Amino acid sequence: MKAVIANKYGGPEVLRVTEVAKPTPKSDEVLIKINATSITAASTFMRLGTPYFGRLFIGLTKPKIKTPGTDLSGTVEAIGSKVTNFKVGDQVMAETGLECGAYAEYICLPFHALMVHQPEDISSEEATGIIDGACTALAFFTDQVQLKPGQKVLINGASGSIGTAAVQLAKNFGAEVTGVCSTKNKALVKDLGADKVLDYTKNELEQSSEKFDVIFDTVGKMSYSDSKKHLVKKGVFMTPTLTFGILLQLLLVSPFSKKKLKFAATGIRKEEMRMRDLIKVRDLLASKKLTTVIDRVYSLEQIQDAHAYVDTGRKRGNVIVRC
Ligand SMILES: NC(=O)c1ccc[n+]([C@@H]2O[C@H](COP(=O)([O-])OP(=O)(O)OC[C@H]3O[C@@H](n4cnc5c(N)ncnc54)[C@H](OP(=O)(O)O)[C@@H]3O)[C@@H](O)[C@H]2O)c1
Repeated sequence: MKAVIANKYGGPEVLRVTEVAKPTPKSDEVLIKINATSITAASTFMRLGTPYFGRLFIGLTKPKIKTPGTDLSGTVEAIGSKVTNFKVGDQVMAETGLECGAYAEYICLPFHALMVHQPEDISSEEATGIIDGACTALAFFTDQVQLKPGQKVLINGASGSIGTAAVQLAKNFGAEVTGVCSTKNKALVKDLGADKVLDYTKNELEQSSEKFDVIFDTVGKMSYSDSKKHLVKKGVFMTPTLTFGILLQLLLVSPFSKKKLKFAATGIRKEEMRMRDLIKVRDLLASKKLTTVIDRVYSLEQIQDAHAYVDTGRKRGNVIVRC
């Protein structure tokens, strides 16, 4: 079978499509023919081997796991003797996390992996594309703040993978949503349900005197200090991006401060919490309360081009690779 192999850390050129042996499922495993995978921020960081402290887990000088790819949609092709929750022919969507392996034609996953049945009328591209952004945003809206109807939420980076999901999820929670994006993405963010859209290229947030209960900076472009003037008295600023500035502020913000700063690495939470989010995201997708924004679709052979495009930091929603 074909699989992408990375033998060293670096740019998109380290990703090579190679012929490798097709895996055979063990008694507690499911063999999946992968139909599509997505280029998530985690797979980019794992390709680069940054931040460097992360190499303690993924390999000091070169990747321990050779085939990247953290999310997938596929078809069950075979099951081990102990598997009862999936059968041959089932369509599934799954998160492989640090184990990776989704940039390939086939993968074996244990039956208890972060894997759920895929809704019937959802494409493989939509299924894999929603996982990273929506599960991350959902985790922030349920665990970092308990978002309530009527609360005012500002989503910075509303056109990205987390952002496009966050706008829709916040509306599902009944919040009043303001999205921040560039001029070219204003219509998209409005279509996703945002009540208001501010253009960061025109400094529209800086000119606004509106205050928010929650600011979710999905792309790590705001600072907590700058955000404070846009927060209500007990407002929360949260981000999935751990920049040096955020790290410093996390250490410096007093526990007695009324305005809070929150960061979470949602992918390393307990498995039951991640499963809870994957099921909820799958159900919202099935009931059309959540849609996947797909920017570009590439083939496995075009993996280097796909990564190079994601590296620009300008994608709209999600970039998919058909396997
Ligand atoms: N902590 C966690 O558990 C966790 C989990 C997943 C991801 N993450 C992190 O979350 C971050 C976002 O990931 P993502 O996949 O959602 O990003 P993404 O999709 O790559 O973000 C791209 C989007 O960001 C927008 N953007 C760029 N500069 C901006 C600015 N100054 N202001 C507002 N929007 C801007 C771009 O729009 P324009 O082209 O219009 O500028 C583009 O649509 C990454 O740093 C990732 O590592 C963390």
